[in-house]
Amino acid sequence: MIVTETPRLILRHLTLDDVDDLATIFADPVVMKFFPNTRTSEETKGHIKWIFSCYEKYGFGLWATIHKADNQFIGRCGLIPQRVDGQEEVEIGYMLAKEYWGKGLATEAASAIRDYGFALGCHRLISLIAPGNIASQKVAMKVGLTYEKDTIIQEKAVRVYAINRPTFP
Ligand SMILES: CC(C)(COP(=O)(O)OP(=O)(O)OC[C@H]1O[C@@H](n2cnc3c(N)ncnc32)[C@H](O)[C@@H]1OP(=O)(O)O)[C@@H](O)C(=O)NCCC(=O)NCCS
Repeated sequence: MIVTETPRLILRHLTLDDVDDLATIFADPVVMKFFPNTRTSEETKGHIKWIFSCYEKYGFGLWATIHKADNQFIGRCGLIPQRVDGQEEVEIGYMLAKEYWGKGLATEAASAIRDYGFALGCHRLISLIAPGNIASQKVAMKVGLTYEKDTIIQEKAVRVYAINRPTFP
């Protein structure tokens, strides 16, 4: 099921047929530099099943990100339920295969995801980003999020970037 599109990307629901493509990305230590570990194929399957539970419970989750020009699965981007300092939040998340970095694709995805989240009714969207992950912080700022605070999530320091839903008179 297609969720949203950008000029260069399709964001659609993940399926178990995506395990191998996503596992290849999760196995790359460069991509996973700011995550606790790379992930095995079995762990990737578990992650996708957790994403299915998000689709059911919240009506959103992370989505397969398909590069239209070559019809390749290039990552998973979307909305993630989070709890930050006791507060329920919705995070814009993005991860792309490194061959596709540096082309503005994450910014393009994040911009569509932000609009989708606000259209769903979210009043506020955040991104949780490791202090050293400059590329990710740039993407967040380019789609309108601003630095809010530092906090700890699962025993790791993260920077919280946030944007409020625009209000129209
Ligand atoms: C973060 C990520 C999604 C960015 O993807 P991308 O498609 O390359 O991002 P964009 O091209 O849209 O924009 C990246 C911006 O960061 C900049 N950038 C990239 N790498 C950088 C680095 N190491 N240091 C500083 N800036 C960097 C780019 O120049 C660009 O900014 P600019 O347009 O002002 O030049 C990608 O690096 C990725 O998948 N990383 C691994 C997963 C991850 O860390 N996800 C985020 C978790 S919070």
